[in-house]
Amino acid sequence: MDELIKYAVRAREQAYVPYSGFKVGAAVQGKSGRIYSGCNIENASYGLANCAERTAIFKAVSEGEQELIAIAVVADTPGPVSPCGACRQVMAEFGIEKIILTNLRGEQRVVTLEQLLPFSFAKGDFVKDGGKNNE
Ligand code: THU
Repeated sequence: MDELIKYAVRAREQAYVPYSGFKVGAAVQGKSGRIYSGCNIENASYGLANCAERTAIFKAVSEGEQELIAIAVVADTPGPVSPCGACRQVMAEFGIEKIILTNLRGEQRVVTLEQLLPFSFAKGDFVKDGGKNNE
């Protein structure tokens, strides 16, 4: 757990945040044990900002690891930083059950995906029907 936080803290230093100035770091651990880290990356077209959590998760998936176990997130917040709704949904997609929220003061809160995103819509919740339901 401490190792995951260390990776997140280091990744935070790479944050590209010319618009918000708010640096976030994340690190995700795959079933293989490998760790993938990420930072938030903003854009002059504000809505295109990518959160640190999704950067880390997408790096893991693009490296061939789809079963993810835990994620640590860190920012310079008064309490442990809490992930946005979009990131919670992406965590659900790849089965991340353990979520470690932290800040630069070392405060920690460990939560489950169920706590962050109860009653979620997930991949088992629909049947592919070739669009017949939309006719
Ligand atoms: N942000 C993250 O990277 N993760 C979070 O959990 C919350 C928000 C980023 C997005 C944007 O670059 C900045 O923080 C301000 O919203």
